[in-house]
Amino acid sequence: LSSTEVDLSLIEEGQIVTVKWRGKPVFVWNRTPDDITKAKDVQVSALIDPIARNANLAADAPATDENRAAEGEGREKWLVVVGICTHLGCVPIGHMGEYDGWFCPCHGSEYDSAGRVRRGPAPENLAVPPYQFVSDTKISIG
Ligand code: FES
Repeated sequence: LSSTEVDLSLIEEGQIVTVKWRGKPVFVWNRTPDDITKAKDVQVSALIDPIARNANLAADAPATDENRAAEGEGREKWLVVVGICTHLGCVPIGHMGEYDGWFCPCHGSEYDSAGRVRRGPAPENLAVPPYQFVSDTKISIG
């Protein structure tokens, strides 16, 4: 009941799928090599929120792309984040905004291709929920 399984084999490169986990939207993005390169090129010191906000890592882990994306060989393309803007809780829109990630229509916060806030009033990066791979093509969130 409290966990959600996602079949990654159904998500095409470039596609963001929204699933429900504990009543919340969770975005699962099969990022392109270009999305990944852009995310890796960003210095943590340039971020509004330098903390990874990844429930699978230490609370003070820095917000590198490695610490935001899925861990493991060939899995860095997967980005899994709670789809709730950290400002006041609207649902951001994918593939929008100047940072190649999400745009929040409520007050204009923008997130990059690692789900890190780059502009606007949102104080934190989109949260990475607890999840693990149960096979090469399936994750379990929660
Ligand atoms: Fe997203 Fe305010 S709720 S910017």
